[in-house]
Amino acid sequence: MDYQLANKTALVTGGGRGIGRAICKALTNEGVRLAVCDINLESARETAESVRKNGKEAFPFRLDVSRPVEIYDVVAQVRIRFGKIDILVNNAGICPRIPIDAIKEDDFDRIVGVNLKGTFFMSQALASIMKEQRSGSIINISSIGARTGGVAASSVYAATKAGIIALTKSYARLLAPYATANAIAPGVVDTDMMKIPEEQVNSIVAQIPLGRMALAEEIASLVLFLASPAASYFTGATLDVNGGCFMY
Ligand SMILES: NC(=O)c1ccc[n+]([C@@H]2O[C@H](COP(=O)([O-])OP(=O)(O)OC[C@H]3O[C@@H](n4cnc5c(N)ncnc54)[C@H](O)[C@@H]3O)[C@@H](O)[C@H]2O)c1
Repeated sequence: MDYQLANKTALVTGGGRGIGRAICKALTNEGVRLAVCDINLESARETAESVRKNGKEAFPFRLDVSRPVEIYDVVAQVRIRFGKIDILVNNAGICPRIPIDAIKEDDFDRIVGVNLKGTFFMSQALASIMKEQRSGSIINISSIGARTGGVAASSVYAATKAGIIALTKSYARLLAPYATANAIAPGVVDTDMMKIPEEQVNSIVAQIPLGRMALAEEIASLVLFLASPAASYFTGATLDVNGGCFMY
């Protein structure tokens, strides 16, 4: 499938591993020039090097998305390098598993800081650029937890992911009619974030009609779609991709 993304530029947060790395690979395979951002510079470098081996253009940046000062600095550097930024993927996220009655203020602030504040300020930094360019696409990674409230050990995470769906709608309105903002709400994806005891994995998978976790590549393909002209009339939408685990 040709997503017509050749010569576009993208900034992906949390691109050092997991879903973010799969998104980076998928975008560069379509000819997109890439800024791979991660709080872990080494892993961002690994992602960039792995796509460069295939002759693609990718540059690593260290970025903690919970710090707006860093966001504005990195976005300025990426813009100087590429001249424009067509696609922003807000993928960086954390999901520490802490029982709801044991959450401390620091835990709360850290999860909200990365997942919600990070998505908000990344989008703010890019929105002004996209409005000026009169084009662009913001794609936010939410979660099935936004729909269900998650499990007892991921309450704050679920709330941030629901907040991301609301932010997606706010930015969709702000960017219209020139640029779009959409979200993806994955179910359970086989990444390091899901490294939990096998019996827990088995009981989760037992509730998924398609009978397995998603592959990171199955989330990345939706990013390609949302960034492509084929999705030109999508904005403010959240696409649920969960193997039938949650239907409504
Ligand atoms: N794996 C799942 O089952 C699942 C399901 C639904 C949604 N998601 C969401 O998908 C996204 C990616 O998840 P994943 O499974 O690949 O997770 P992961 O833990 O494997 O990777 C997350 C990446 O984000 C980076 N990161 C963490 N904090 C950061 C920060 N402050 N600034 C910049 N980068 C930071 C990490 O270094 C890591 O490279 C997350 O937003 C997650 O909430 C995952």
